[in-house]
Amino acid sequence: MKHLLKLLDLSAEEIFSILDLADRLKYERKHSIAHPLLAGMTLGMIFQKSSTRTRVSFEAGMYQLGGHALFLSSRDLQIGRGEPVKDTARVLSRYLDGIMIRTYAQQEVEDLARFGSIPVINGLTDFCHPCQVLADLMTIREKLGILQGKKLCFIGDGNNMANSLIVGGLKAGMTVSAATPYAYRPDEAVLAFAKEYGKSFSLESDPFLAASGADVIITDTWASMGQESEKEERMGVFKEYQINTRLLTAANTGAMVLHCLPAYRGQEITEEIFETHAEEIFEEAENRLHAQKAVLVKLLKKEEK
Ligand code: CP
Ligand code: NVA
Repeated sequence: MKHLLKLLDLSAEEIFSILDLADRLKYERKHSIAHPLLAGMTLGMIFQKSSTRTRVSFEAGMYQLGGHALFLSSRDLQIGRGEPVKDTARVLSRYLDGIMIRTYAQQEVEDLARFGSIPVINGLTDFCHPCQVLADLMTIREKLGILQGKKLCFIGDGNNMANSLIVGGLKAGMTVSAATPYAYRPDEAVLAFAKEYGKSFSLESDPFLAASGADVIITDTWASMGQESEKEERMGVFKEYQINTRLLTAANTGAMVLHCLPAYRGQEITEEIFETHAEEIFEEAENRLHAQKAVLVKLLKKEEK
């Protein structure tokens, strides 16, 4: 594993190896066992979109691993004034040990990896959000004990989160269902991948069908970063795709509810369901830290490759 660009690139073994290391790092942090595995290393973090969790968990995570993280806003970098990604990649590769990037186009992340010579981590693109889904899988495994055979259901916009959940869930041996309006279905490349899993994947337009027998239900905002101008229209399109008490009656009793955050109560999830499942949702947010530290160690620490 040289980069984390998208979960489509990872094998099931690589995913589980990250989750196992994340569990270990979480345990060590809880027991105040220091793990300076990346001492002296520097991660550059390029942000073209806002972030709370990704920025803070990567920065704190690098510090806890004995390294350092640099916040690089595209507003301040020359990239924001048109310096090509392939030049930025070649320059940053000479200063840093790794790059985390949050941007719009997946191609930009792929180019950074192609032209640079250091590991690149995708901190969210319009196409996918692999770091979030590794944390989600970690959270589900912690609570349910196992991923294989459990049913993960995504309700809402077939965007970056849906794309990564479908790929990550299927690779981890879960049954995956998704319910999205037809015009907002997941990416074609993801659907082609999922097709290979036969009956383990289903895409519905009816959220109740998708939620039937689910062990975990996940949603995401109806209007992602970059889609602000479509917000009003989306509120109408998605209104039947809300996680609420009625929808949860279709899921298994005691089903988990996760949300990558930020959450918009009264839109994709009700206040009541959010607060009932707040413990799981904030554990999921915490697990961003542990899962990403595992990714950093796997990619940056020489003998872990
Ligand atoms: N879930 C997530 O990626 O949060 P941020 O946008 O705050 O980083
Ligand atoms: N789909 C959301 C996820 C935020 C973490 C977005 O792209 O804005």
